[in-house]
Amino acid sequence: MTDQNKKPITKAVIPAAGLGTRFLPATKATPKEMLPVVDRPAIQYVVEEAVRAGLEDVLMITGRNKRALEDHFDRVPTLEKQLNDQGKDKLLQSVVDTNDLGELHYVRQGDPKGLGHAVLRGKIHVGNEPFAVLLGDDLIDEKEDLLSQMVEVQQKTGGSVVALMEVPNDQISAYGCAAIETVEGEDFFKVTELVEKPKAEEAPSNYAVIGRYVLSPKVFEVLENTPPGRGDEIQLTDALQTLAAGTGEGDGVYGVVFKGRRFDTGDKLSYLKANIILAAEREDLGEPLRAWLQDFVADQA
Ligand code: UTP
Repeated sequence: MTDQNKKPITKAVIPAAGLGTRFLPATKATPKEMLPVVDRPAIQYVVEEAVRAGLEDVLMITGRNKRALEDHFDRVPTLEKQLNDQGKDKLLQSVVDTNDLGELHYVRQGDPKGLGHAVLRGKIHVGNEPFAVLLGDDLIDEKEDLLSQMVEVQQKTGGSVVALMEVPNDQISAYGCAAIETVEGEDFFKVTELVEKPKAEEAPSNYAVIGRYVLSPKVFEVLENTPPGRGDEIQLTDALQTLAAGTGEGDGVYGVVFKGRRFDTGDKLSYLKANIILAAEREDLGEPLRAWLQDFVADQA
């Protein structure tokens, strides 16, 4: 019998139903996942990352303002015709590219009762197989292959995998935090404990859980029995803590340490940095932006 926890991974779930309160008032009528980073909404980078890792079946968990998200990945025949008639080929291509990204599905969360609750909304679509979760406001550098590495670790272990990033001690209280142990002969770690947003002095390590997960289907059963935790929300971290403590099939949590660049576009400062850094590297914008930035910084000194 095939182990359902090691079935090939083809599906990605992207939670994008949060209220985005840190970015108000911009997020009053627009999901934060639709805020542009240079010229693409944050969510597009995330869907592209899933598709690059071979996960073409994408389920987006949406909430209020669902339409903007759905519309962005849909065709706009009148716009396409106009761009075509005007010979604006590059712009036309950029529009068409967004329609061809994977096989997108949508389900609503209703009440945003936490990330764990959002992931649980994917249960019927995902079924009894492992799957990836990519937070819709978390950008990972396009040059990195973090998700593929995590998929490999999941297939090897049959457990669940989190992405970890070392952060300064005074920042750990903004994240889920993991205590880890080495696994002999492997470059990934075993996660022994997970705590959501601990106080700096109580954190078991400086390893923060960032917005990429590859989960065994057992997480659904655990989430169904996970009561609201911190902030009265159903926390994915709490469900992962249960899986980390278990010893049965589909249990066990492993960590892949990420050392590349990552931006939390739900946080204003990180969002601004993402725009500047990514624009400064672009062929069409980089040179004038870098020149202007140098003058600007010199003026501030
Ligand atoms: P965050 O904790 O960053 O989202 O969730 P938030 O609650 O919208 O943010 P603030 O703190 O109010 O500014 C991380 C990801 O999980 C999704 C969010 O949309 C984001 O992509 N999420 C969060 C849900 O889909 N549903 C929820 O109930 C909570």
